[in-house]
Amino acid sequence: MEKLNSGYGKLQILFDIDLEVPKGEITTIVGPNGSGKSTFLKSLFGLTDIYSGRVTYEGRDITYTPPHEKTKMGISYLPQTNNVFTNLTVRENLRIAGYILNGDELEERINFALEVFPELRGILDRKAGSLSGGQRQMLAMATALVRKTRILMLDEPTAQLSPKLAQVIFDKIVELRDNYDITPILVEQNAKRALEISDVGYMFVSGRVAYGGSAKSLLNHEKFQSYFLGVVGIEEC
Ligand SMILES: Nc1ncnc2c1ncn2[C@@H]1O[C@H](COP(=O)(O)OP(=O)(O)O)[C@@H](O)[C@H]1O
Ligand SMILES: [Mg+2]
Repeated sequence: MEKLNSGYGKLQILFDIDLEVPKGEITTIVGPNGSGKSTFLKSLFGLTDIYSGRVTYEGRDITYTPPHEKTKMGISYLPQTNNVFTNLTVRENLRIAGYILNGDELEERINFALEVFPELRGILDRKAGSLSGGQRQMLAMATALVRKTRILMLDEPTAQLSPKLAQVIFDKIVELRDNYDITPILVEQNAKRALEISDVGYMFVSGRVAYGGSAKSLLNHEKFQSYFLGVVGIEEC
């Protein structure tokens, strides 16, 4: 994406965002609260107002491509909350995710999603609203797999999970990259641990890219370290 400027109506949130997401790698965006991380994912998916700049995907300009078209292209976005239908069962959520597929293909895709998330097999008839936070996140990710996702955007998938469960989710994200040819784009408050599993890291401050480079270099960068010691001191690193 080149020089992207976006926001909500007249309220500009992101300024001149230049960012590249390498295929087959995990790209993670960190930054303080309100720095525009969620707005960034929404802008990629087509849920904000884009004033200028360009988003390209496999050589195609998708800056103004509507979300449902992006979904068909294999781009998925899982918001931080409301990413499953709580009043439907796990099975129903998976079926709805693949509603455009024909019956056989749908079954095949659901089986595939359950291979990646066998944790869901025993709870297919439970209402999504009754699941634990970790199970719910796995269901959300599984619905993206039913849809043949190639780019998977995740907004704080480990928020409110115990460190142990957060690690399970991080491991799944690595598995999606390594075994299923999926390119995850991650926004995380759990910044240190997210960068540890990532290839590329960006740090946003006040709607701008304060740093971009390898995830490792960001972890070691003084901006990241001071952000951690200064702003995020109260949070778990
Ligand atoms: N739907 C919206 N309408 C107007 N302003 C919004 C909306 N969503 C977020 N914002 C504003 O955009 C800024 C960045 O928010 P956000 O992208 O959610 O940051 P982050 O995810 O980094 O915490 C904040 O000032 C927030 O108040
Ligand atoms: Mg956010």
